[in-house]
Amino acid sequence: MQIPITPRDIAITPNHFVPEIEKGLLAPFASISPKFLYDPLGSHLFTAITLLPEYYPTSTEKNIFTQYRDEIASATGIGGTLIDLGAGNCQKAESFFSSLKPSSYLAIDFSVEYLQDALKKLAGKYPQILMQCIGMDFSKQLIIPDSIAATKRIFFYPGSSIGNFLSTEALQLLSQIQKQANNGGLLIGVDLMKEDSVLIAAYDDPLKVTAAFNLNILRSINSYLGSNFRVDQFRHIVKVNHAEKRVELYLEALEDLTVTWPGNSRVFKKGELIHTENSHKYTIQSIQQLLKDAGFASTQIWTDPKDYFAVIYAQ
Ligand code: AVI
Repeated sequence: MQIPITPRDIAITPNHFVPEIEKGLLAPFASISPKFLYDPLGSHLFTAITLLPEYYPTSTEKNIFTQYRDEIASATGIGGTLIDLGAGNCQKAESFFSSLKPSSYLAIDFSVEYLQDALKKLAGKYPQILMQCIGMDFSKQLIIPDSIAATKRIFFYPGSSIGNFLSTEALQLLSQIQKQANNGGLLIGVDLMKEDSVLIAAYDDPLKVTAAFNLNILRSINSYLGSNFRVDQFRHIVKVNHAEKRVELYLEALEDLTVTWPGNSRVFKKGELIHTENSHKYTIQSIQQLLKDAGFASTQIWTDPKDYFAVIYAQ
């Protein structure tokens, strides 16, 4: 079966991101958007993170999906288009194909090359499902193209990636989903607040996979910007910010150094930080409020025995 692949959004050329990257690097408190973590190597490193015993979100969410798959399917209903936001290797969505029985599957991700490989493998296994994919930076705006059937849509946003957005950005994304669901809804995974020791172990694992994932963002930026970041001049730092209810990832300069790229440069002093990611942790009440603010009228919630993670279907 032929897979209609929608090519990467034509607005997204490598140069498209240069102003955004430069703005972050040249700010007094330097930052790099977490979306640049997911170049081809970064996507593989993230998959490795999800296999770590310390990284509880993936296994906990999987257990909730397994335990409540039938209840989830009766909440969502069957058929329609399953729209997978941040599809990655498409495995989580695939685990719902037999219960949700979508007539079409639209996989969306920033890293389109990784996505295309995953989708080609899936298309052979499920000839009855129309498979499409789009390379899209939906952190800025989510617009489902007119070429995608305007039937009932179940948006699937697992893994607590919503936690990587600030609350204003999360609200905007959730509102856009709500407006484009066509009487469907949103099946979302959300990480819940818990004790620091569990969070630190999950984001600073002893095998240093998360450190490699975080440091690799510098190589990803080198390829976008033509900069000369050296990963051996930085180290991975994790902080729990209780006031903001989130885990924060940084890269710390190990020495005084200068990074240059065509047309510009940035000096980093020893100990200076580059902020690379926030991972917000919600409570059931705070995520319900956010979904309500986004226009969803009702929610059904499934959690694990430790209340580490929540799976929610919002309509
Ligand atoms: C993709 N996202 C939900 C992960 C998280 O937990 O915030 C990204 C990640 N960063 C470090 N480890 C995992």
